[in-house]
Amino acid sequence: MSLTIAIDGPSGSGKSSVSRRVAAALGLAYLDTGAMYRAATWWCVQQDVDLSDQDAVSALVLELPLEMGVDPSGPTVHVAGTDVGEAIRESSISTAVSAVATNLTVRDEMRRLQRAIIDAERSGGFSSGGGVVAEGRDITTVVAPDADVRMLLTASEEARLARRARDVHGADDAAAVDATRDEVLRRDADDSTVSQFLVAADGVVTLDSSGLDLEGTVDAVLAVVSQVTGSS
Ligand code: DC
Repeated sequence: MSLTIAIDGPSGSGKSSVSRRVAAALGLAYLDTGAMYRAATWWCVQQDVDLSDQDAVSALVLELPLEMGVDPSGPTVHVAGTDVGEAIRESSISTAVSAVATNLTVRDEMRRLQRAIIDAERSGGFSSGGGVVAEGRDITTVVAPDADVRMLLTASEEARLARRARDVHGADDAAAVDATRDEVLRRDADDSTVSQFLVAADGVVTLDSSGLDLEGTVDAVLAVVSQVTGSS
C-alpha cells in the first residue's frame, strides 16, 4: 500500500534526521525539500546573482537543473550534474537561503517540483509499494495536504539551538549555542513570513521532541503512523 507522510517543523526540530530514519524503517522514499531551497540558493550564488534581485533569482530558479535522489540510505542533490550535497550545508548557504525561499515565484516552482516527485514516488519510484516521507515547512499545509500522515515536529528553543550547535559546531556549550542563535532564530522568523510551521494546522499531529533523542523521536513518529494507518 502506498503511504505518504508529510513532516514539517522549524530549524533544529530534528525533522531531517527523523524523517530519513522513518523513511528507511518503512521502506519509503525520502524527500528533503529544504535541500531543494538550499540547492536553488547555491545555484544563484554560483551564477553570481544578487539575491535581493527577485526577478533575476526567479528567472534562474525557473531553469534550475536540479536532480534529487530519494533513497533514505543516501539521499543526493545534484545541480547541473554537480553533487552539491555538502556545499548546500555551508553556513554561507544557511545564511542566504531565506532570501531565496521567501521569493514567491521560487516557492511556486519548488512546490511544483516537490509535488511531481511525491506523485512519482506514490506510484512506486524508489519503494516497490510506493510512498514517500517528505519534510519541510509547508508540506503538511500546501505541498501535500492530502498526505496519509501529517505531523509537525516541534522542540523548545533551547533544544533546537543545542541540536543545531551540535550539527554545525560539534558541541552544545554556551559559546556554540550562542554562535547558532542568530542564524536559527532569524531564519525561522524570515521563513515564517511565508509558511506557517510554528503551529500545527487542522488535522496535523504535533510531536514535541524536546525531551526525546533521535531513536525516541523516530519511535514516536512510527507510533503515530501506525495509529493513523491502523497498522500494528
Ligand atoms: O530545513 P532546512 O534548514 O534545510 O531548510 C532550508 C531553508 O529552506 C529554510 O530557510 C526554510 C526553507 N524551506 C522552506 O521555506 N520550505 C520548505 N518546504 C523547506 C524549507
